[in-house]
Parts: sequence; C-alpha cells; structure tokens
Amino acid sequence: MFNKLFIVSVWMLITQCYGQGPVTIVPYNGIELKFYAIRKTYEQAKTACESDNAQLVVVKSQAMQDIITPHLDSTISYIAWGQYDYGVGYWMGLRKLAGANIHDYKALDGTNYVNKPAYTNWNNVEPNALKSQLACAYMCPYNNVYGINGAYNWFTDSAFPNVSKGGWWTFHCTQKNYYICQRAFCATNPCRYGSCVALATSYKCNCDPGYSGSLCGDDLCSPQPCQNGGSCNRVPGNYTCSCLNGFVGR
Ligand SMILES: *[C@@H]1O[C@H](CO)[C@@H](O)[C@H](O)[C@H]1NC(C)=O
Ligand SMILES: *[C@@H]1O[C@H](CO)[C@@H](O)[C@H](O)[C@H]1NC(C)=O
Repeated sequence: MFNKLFIVSVWMLITQCYGQGPVTIVPYNGIELKFYAIRKTYEQAKTACESDNAQLVVVKSQAMQDIITPHLDSTISYIAWGQYDYGVGYWMGLRKLAGANIHDYKALDGTNYVNKPAYTNWNNVEPNALKSQLACAYMCPYNNVYGINGAYNWFTDSAFPNVSKGGWWTFHCTQKNYYICQRAFCATNPCRYGSCVALATSYKCNCDPGYSGSLCGDDLCSPQPCQNGGSCNRVPGNYTCSCLNGFVGR
C-alpha cells in the first residue's frame, strides 16, 4: 500500500511538473483514448498528442461516441470567453480551414487532415462557423443546455438551443479546451523482444523465439541454462541446448 501510494504521488508530481493534468485512459477497439484535464489551444493540444505518439481523437461511429461521452467531465467550471460565458469542451481531431465551406470539416489521419467524417454528432445548430473562419471542433461535456445565464449565440444573437453532452461544437481554435488523444495500443511497441497484436481492450505480445513473458522481456537463454559448456539455442517459446562432445541431456 505504501508503495502504491508512493507511486501515485510520484506520478502526480510528474504529471504536474510536465503540465499534463489528470489523465483518464479508456480502451476502445484496439486504441486507448486519453482524456486530458488541462486547457490548451487546438494546436497545442494537437502537438501534445503527437508528442505522445498519438493524435487528437477522431470519432468514427456512434458506438465510439457512446464510449467517450460518459468520460466527459460535466463539472468543469465555465470560463469567460469574450463577452459571454462559454463552457470548456474537449478538442477532437476535426477542423475547417478559413475559406472552406461551412460544412467542409476534415478529420485527422495521423497528423494530416484528410477525411470528411462519415459519422458526425453535431449539436443542433452546428457546424455554424462562418466560411471566412478557421474553426475547430470540440465536444460539449455538459448535460442539456450549454449556454448559461443568458449566453447568446455568438453569430446570430439568438439563444442557444439545447445541446447534449458529447455533442460536437465549433469554435475559435485559440480557445483553450481540454482534449482527447487516441493512440493504437501497439503504436509504441510495448513488447520488448516480440511483436504487438492489438485486441479489443488491450494487446498481446507474440514473443520472438527464446523469449517469454507478457511483454516478452524474459530471455530464456539468460542466465545460461545449458550445463557443461553447452550452447543455448532460441526456439519458439523455449530454448534447446547443444551439448559439447561427451555430454547428453536437455
Ligand atoms: C430544451 O429542452 C427542454 C426540455 O427538454 C424543452 O422544454 C425546451 O423546449 C428545449 N428548448 C429548445 C430551445 O429546444
Ligand atoms: C521446453 O522444452 C522442454 C523439453 O521439450 C519442455 O519440457 C518444457 O516444458 C518446454 N518449456 C516450455 C515453456 O514450453
């Protein structure tokens, strides 16, 4: 218990020193989703994901959205943004360039924007950023009405219609939001001497000959298991010994 507490405190210290804030990790379909509770601009968030061999999340289905939605923190305090109060949301890998048509959002594939999303979960009036604007997409973490205390629509000056938790919103990319990164389980091969295979909610390691263990870190030829000067050969999941003349046995 002491050790665990110690590790947790060191981890909190490390994450605070590196400014990542609390992180929630959720596995989904061969990838891990990391929810970062620290506010960054869109570009800062994108860069932060990339420095962790990840990218901003691209939601491809209702099933994926349904996994994500419950992990959005609806208790985040509202922040003042310009003239009105807006909530904090979670950046995702989706944006529209200035000059692109109002619906012409592109999703990230790695570090590049390539695909128009096949699945979308826009809130009511969205996407409604002007053609002239660079706009980035984020998820609303709040239940029900997003605008509070007479917050008005930025562009039309009409009251915000109801929006739902998990619904997608667009805004200036310079706003500071929380963000969600996604990374394939095997993106950074966690298997020491072996190859990584992604499963639905985790991964497994297929070990190279002569290695074992869940992360293939156990070298079956070390320490040298062969006696009397025999040499150790690596075979799948095991080892064999080649004995010197005059010696027999495993
Ligand atoms: C918002 O939702 C409430 C409760 O479902 C409903 O009564 C109200 O009419 C909705 N408002 C708008 C603008 O859609
Ligand atoms: C390795 O091979 C030996 C001899 O065939 C066998 O007894 C042993 O169970 C094997 N070990 C594993 C981990 O398969």
